[in-house]
Amino acid sequence: MINILFVCLGNICRSPMAEFVMKDLIEKKNLTKEFYIASAATSAEETGNPVHHGTRNKLRELGISTAGKYAVQIKKSDYGKYDYILGMEQRNIAGIMRIVGGDPKGKIKRLLDYSLNPRDIADPWFTGDFEETYHDVKEGCEALLASILKSEKFI
Ligand code: 4NP
Repeated sequence: MINILFVCLGNICRSPMAEFVMKDLIEKKNLTKEFYIASAATSAEETGNPVHHGTRNKLRELGISTAGKYAVQIKKSDYGKYDYILGMEQRNIAGIMRIVGGDPKGKIKRLLDYSLNPRDIADPWFTGDFEETYHDVKEGCEALLASILKSEKFI
């Protein structure tokens, strides 16, 4: 079982988008049983709130539902629970490190560090551009999945 946690600032825009795009990718590869995938926030600002309508609408266009997802904050114990902890931007990495207290196993990276063009994913809460967010998230999730499927963690 591979455990993946996607993390952003609020857990209402980018990280839930990554969670449900990744679940869709692995479902299409018939690998759902091999993975546990979730998302969380570094801040407690949006705790308990549903997915932002910008993310919901973009994913609905693609036939992907976010039903049942409400924002949660990452906990220190999540470091032991997950194999991959993926922030959306550098600021999230600092927020994750503050909560989990360090990264001795090298689990914490930006999602797009797995892509050929490592970079931050801009916050659509501020940009309003959920289309751009989706393209970045999809690129990152595809690159992450390809990397996992090549790694020795995937048995
Ligand atoms: P997210 O977007 O980190 O992609 O979920 C944000 C959501 C809420 C806030 C900031 C970013 N906020 O300031 O409440």
